[in-house]
Amino acid sequence: MKGIVLSGGSGTRLHPVTLAVSKQLLPVFDKPMIYYSLSLLLFAGIRDILIITTPKDQDSYRALLGDGSAIGISISYAVQPEPKGIAQAFLIGSDFIGGDSCALVLGDNILYGSGLQRQLREETAKHKRGAVAFSCAVSDPERFGIVTFGPDGKPISIEEKPKTPRSNQAVIGLYFYDNRVVEIARQLKPSARGELEITAINQWYLERGELNVVPLGRGYAWLDAGTHEALVQAGEFVRIVEQRQGLKLGCIEEIAYRMNFIGLDQLQAIAGKYKASAYGDYLERLIEEAKSATARVTG
Ligand code: G1P
Repeated sequence: MKGIVLSGGSGTRLHPVTLAVSKQLLPVFDKPMIYYSLSLLLFAGIRDILIITTPKDQDSYRALLGDGSAIGISISYAVQPEPKGIAQAFLIGSDFIGGDSCALVLGDNILYGSGLQRQLREETAKHKRGAVAFSCAVSDPERFGIVTFGPDGKPISIEEKPKTPRSNQAVIGLYFYDNRVVEIARQLKPSARGELEITAINQWYLERGELNVVPLGRGYAWLDAGTHEALVQAGEFVRIVEQRQGLKLGCIEEIAYRMNFIGLDQLQAIAGKYKASAYGDYLERLIEEAKSATARVTG
């Protein structure tokens, strides 16, 4: 399965902060926002990733993530010249997707919860045909794609930003599709807001009984970082959890190591580069722990 991170948009709700810097590169506490989205793809075991950015931001993303080899993955880049909708990612990425299935994550999707890694790995492992989306309860459902479920747990409706929402279950910005998604995206017409809607794609699968929506329960936090206040709150959430647990959220280097995409030497190389920061200290600590665990096993 391939993976796309959509990091376009002009971040107007965060102006002037986003005039010179892409929203998804802004810090959420101790790491750029896109790390949290990337970590979801890594959890799912996806190592071939396309990052779609605005034309002006692409160099910054390259400076941050390069070709991905430092963390044992492959990252390529494409541009979305104008924000014409999430579903446009499949047109921009059609060559990249080729004949594969594809995951899509929005570059500002911050998701945290127990068992997330297992859940994502299971979904990708069993995914053969159709679409998989995830939903979370929200207090402002008119702002999102909203799904309702039938008594058997299957989705029965999905609506984009309904004026009178039929549920509080918002479809979050993480989706898995089979290869038909490219052709479906080609057939889409822009919505009233001039966008190729991801909800229209989900609707296509729903109508054929091929949309599975996984509700993420109360143990999950899906955070918004789209306004100044929400951005600070997301950072605060991450800071509190990380400081309490002594473990990092969305640390792509740690995930790459734990997923065996890289070994200790590569992790050490990254830690060396970041040695002036607390983030680097954390990676050093992981390395020390791994070494003493190995010493215990072999000693
Ligand atoms: C988009 C989707 C919506 C989804 C949301 C998740 O909304 O259209 O269905 O619930 O992402 O973040 P937008 O960012 O375009 O308002």
